[in-house]
Amino acid sequence: MLDTLEDIRLRGLAQLEEAADPAALESWRLAYLGPKGRLKAALAEFQALPKDQKAQLGQQMNQVRTTLETAFNARKLALSAAGTPDAGPRIDVTEPGLLSAQALGRTHIISRVRDELVDVFARLGFSVAEGPELEDDEHNFVKLNIPPSHPARDPIDNFYVDPPDRVSAPRMLRSQTSTVQIRVMEDAVAQGWGPPIRIISPGRVYRPDTVDATHSFMFHQLEGLAIDRDITLADLKTTLLQFARAYFGPDAEIRLRPSFFPFTEPSAELDMKIALKPGEPPRWIELGGCGMVDPAVLEACGIDPEQWTGFAFGFGIERIAMGRYGIPDIRLLFENDIRFLNQI
Ligand code: DAH
Repeated sequence: MLDTLEDIRLRGLAQLEEAADPAALESWRLAYLGPKGRLKAALAEFQALPKDQKAQLGQQMNQVRTTLETAFNARKLALSAAGTPDAGPRIDVTEPGLLSAQALGRTHIISRVRDELVDVFARLGFSVAEGPELEDDEHNFVKLNIPPSHPARDPIDNFYVDPPDRVSAPRMLRSQTSTVQIRVMEDAVAQGWGPPIRIISPGRVYRPDTVDATHSFMFHQLEGLAIDRDITLADLKTTLLQFARAYFGPDAEIRLRPSFFPFTEPSAELDMKIALKPGEPPRWIELGGCGMVDPAVLEACGIDPEQWTGFAFGFGIERIAMGRYGIPDIRLLFENDIRFLNQI
């Protein structure tokens, strides 16, 4: 009997240590302290004993019961305390949370290329100028030396916007960033800070083109303007070459093909021989137009063409972005499909 009680105590304590959750604890309680448990069984055995053995064993039995009950209560307390938050760092605060699985936004490809271009021209001494997207005839055409008869002014080719009063001059969504040349020259003269002038202006332009893989009714241009004493075509060419090499790599070449724009004289189409994609052989890509600022444009802005000369250029940002990142269709740039945007 004594052996049995010692066995109940030792095994009971050992098994109690192994009970790690409320269910295990409860089955332990039933097995040892319950009405059909081992202590109850021992009690039945005890009662059958002769009287003289009962005194000593009874004491022993009470001790074992008290030991097991005390251990049980302590274990129960320990287990339930472990489940409460203040019981210690149950939450690993260093573990990545659910939120980190959410996609982070990033700069749109057009903005990225625009910033890169601005960065290169900033290093060449150009600062960024801005102009309104809702423009007037004066800045989009007249002062750029584009006469009323010019086909570029055809209402079919422009987004004209009726003025609210229907009386004052109609406005339009600018069809080229060359408008900013005019605004900057006017400002420089009115505020007396220039010339010299050396600006670039990236921004949106709008034309009612039929949308297809290479045309969009809205796209982006980067305009450049430099006015100083004795600026020549050589300065234009050097600036564009320096830009091409800084942005596309030391092997880049440029080519100017004679052309016509009303606001430059002489005018040229600008091609660059560049590897748009890394690893590709360089090829000639048509990027935009450029030329020496027409004296009539300087005069229209109040700048004396006898004292000052200048060059200007303008090229499309989409063309560079699409070539560089192998984007086959301009519409992909503006549909904002996350599956596309995540790839570039
Ligand atoms: N504005 C012209 C266009 O949209 C591009 C251009 C040509 C800009 C010659 C210039 C320039 O500044 O000098 O087609």
